[in-house]
Amino acid sequence: MDNISNVQKSFDSEKSKIKNLNFLNEIKVKYLGKSGEVSLLMKNMKNISPQDRPAFGKKVNEIRDYIESNLAKIETELAEKEKKAKLKKEKIDVTIPVKINKGSLHPITTVKNEITEIFTGLGFEVLEGPEVETDYYNFQMLNIPKDHPARDMQDTFYFSDNLLLRTHTSPMQARTMEVKKPPIRMVCPGKVYRADDDATHSPIFNQIEGLVIDKKITLCDLKGILDEFVKIFFNKNTKTRFRPSYFPFTEPSVEVDASCSECGGKGCKVCKGTGWIEILGAGMVNPKVLDNAGIDSKKYSGFAFGLGIDRMAMIKYKINDLRLMYENDIRFLKQF
Ligand code: DAH
Repeated sequence: MDNISNVQKSFDSEKSKIKNLNFLNEIKVKYLGKSGEVSLLMKNMKNISPQDRPAFGKKVNEIRDYIESNLAKIETELAEKEKKAKLKKEKIDVTIPVKINKGSLHPITTVKNEITEIFTGLGFEVLEGPEVETDYYNFQMLNIPKDHPARDMQDTFYFSDNLLLRTHTSPMQARTMEVKKPPIRMVCPGKVYRADDDATHSPIFNQIEGLVIDKKITLCDLKGILDEFVKIFFNKNTKTRFRPSYFPFTEPSVEVDASCSECGGKGCKVCKGTGWIEILGAGMVNPKVLDNAGIDSKKYSGFAFGLGIDRMAMIKYKINDLRLMYENDIRFLKQF
């Protein structure tokens, strides 16, 4: 009986030291395990006189129940405590501001949208065409027959004799005239491709084509529209200058300069001291091109222009190397 009360005393003094589940398991093994204190008491049974055995057995059962229920209680308390500590440690403050890396539009896309919006504001519709084009639309319909020397103006990526990556957005002039009746007022932005690669030429770049066909369209209408365009895109003091040029699909053809938006025409680094920046090629649609596409050149006339979007973006953001636009270095893109 003394042994039993010693086991109880020793358990009582140890139980207050149980501060975690690991130690609790050690104590469980020490008292309730196969060769633990309670089992040792049981094994002592045979040394007890038969008449004392029932009372002894009862006492051992009591002490076992006592230890079991105490440990179970401590275990629940500890588990609860550990859960609370874990929750506290893993708490997330949802009110802390999170830094979000927001994306932004590529400078070419921004400028493309800006130019397109100016022309829609002037009454033009926006059309798109295929980047893989036929020789027929890219050249022949535009009065550039096979073996015409003007093909040398555009170094071309061919898939076969008749299939190529379009070298300009001009084939959309012919495609539009074939399916629409005048009056036509359209712009077509898109990617174009040429076998070129240096600081101002990329094998892939972007143009926006413009086409107006109606009765009595003259070079003055072209001048009026482009004057309006440069005033909106650059600033209201910007002027245009037309220089004679040659394109097989326009007659007469012009190259158009805008007065430098940086120095106002005095001459600076952006305009290389000339006061002018070349922005596009244009002209009156060649009657042959109208007739090719089934529009009566005796009744209708029109003008067309082709503007380099990348060039406009380079001027606008003062970027001196076109290739930066296509490398997609995040340090470059983050500035826009
Ligand atoms: N397609 C010409 C080029 O890429 C640019 C151009 C010139 C387009 C005159 C036109 C135009 O519509 O009338 O070099």
